[in-house]
Amino acid sequence: MKLAIEVKGLTKTFGSFTAVNQVDMRIPENMVYGFLGPNGSGKTTAIRMMCGLLEPTAGEITVLGMQIPARTEAIRQQVGYMTQRFSMYGDLTVEQNLDFIGKIMGVTGKHLKRRKEEVKEQFNLQSFTSFLAGELSGGQKRRLALAAATIHKPRLLLLDEPTSEVDPNTRRDFWDQLFTMCDQGATILVTTHLMDEAERCHHLAIINDGIKVADGSPAALKSDLAAAIVEVKSPRPAQIKSHLHSLTPVISVTQVGMLLRVMVDPQLASPLEWLSKELASFVDVEIRTSSPSIEDVFVMATRKMSRDAEHGN
Ligand SMILES: Nc1ncnc2c1ncn2[C@@H]1O[C@H](COP(=O)(O)OP(=O)(O)OP(=O)(O)O)[C@@H](O)[C@H]1O
Ligand SMILES: [Mg+2]
Repeated sequence: MKLAIEVKGLTKTFGSFTAVNQVDMRIPENMVYGFLGPNGSGKTTAIRMMCGLLEPTAGEITVLGMQIPARTEAIRQQVGYMTQRFSMYGDLTVEQNLDFIGKIMGVTGKHLKRRKEEVKEQFNLQSFTSFLAGELSGGQKRRLALAAATIHKPRLLLLDEPTSEVDPNTRRDFWDQLFTMCDQGATILVTTHLMDEAERCHHLAIINDGIKVADGSPAALKSDLAAAIVEVKSPRPAQIKSHLHSLTPVISVTQVGMLLRVMVDPQLASPLEWLSKELASFVDVEIRTSSPSIEDVFVMATRKMSRDAEHGN
């Protein structure tokens, strides 16, 4: 199995603060690899190190078989990086931005002309070519940024929250494009806070406080989840919710309309029976077991660390 990215012991400290802490990652070629984690967990910092823009404090990085920093220049030609913050030139038009970025990435002449047409069509930018980038809407800016990141047909795409501010239909198109590029041989590392997007990835890594806390396919992560999921339906979920919060085996409670999704300690012999007894005094309550979602996996992986920390472990 060829790896597009291999990092070992990747660490970044800012003064006394450790933003990325001993992270190991192996990303095989030709997959869509999701990178999840709460705000401030170190995703952007890790990605910036992977494309040679930020020097690690410690650790080794190999991208497309080449080591960073020794081969950073060669790597850049084959990597597309879409930053979390909009980094196009606001006072240049869409066309001028694509032209400029294309040339920086070594695409010239007829080839550049063809690639510009292709990405404009791919990301639905044809009607905006003469607009200044700074005057585009949030979602249009994201489309331009992705078009620019892919203009040189990179073998590896690093996408930092590419779909924030993007409407649901455009988001679908985005993901279709990602899979098309993956089918054509690209490897894609993508950060997202959207669980439906995480679910679509071939593989996921979850980072919390700079530490990698989970790694696996969405299906494996769900089936390995160390928690039972029970759904409680009630016309008065608020009262039940506060009662559930007071019970030690309850790990988390999420309300979806009149439904409460309860994550329960799997050590309990029968979470369903236990919860039915605990809620016996409430009327009109329906209780049933449910299967874990990626959101449950995320909540569990990122919560465990903070609980451990609270207990001084
Ligand atoms: N140049 C810097 N100097 C000091 N601290 C920094 C620097 N860059 C990042 N950090 C800190 O490192 C931590 C990780 O930041 P990072 O941007 O990598 O998080 P993230 O996982 O990308 O978060 P988000 O989901 O909000 O984008 C944060 O606490 C941030 O404040
Ligand atoms: Mg970030």
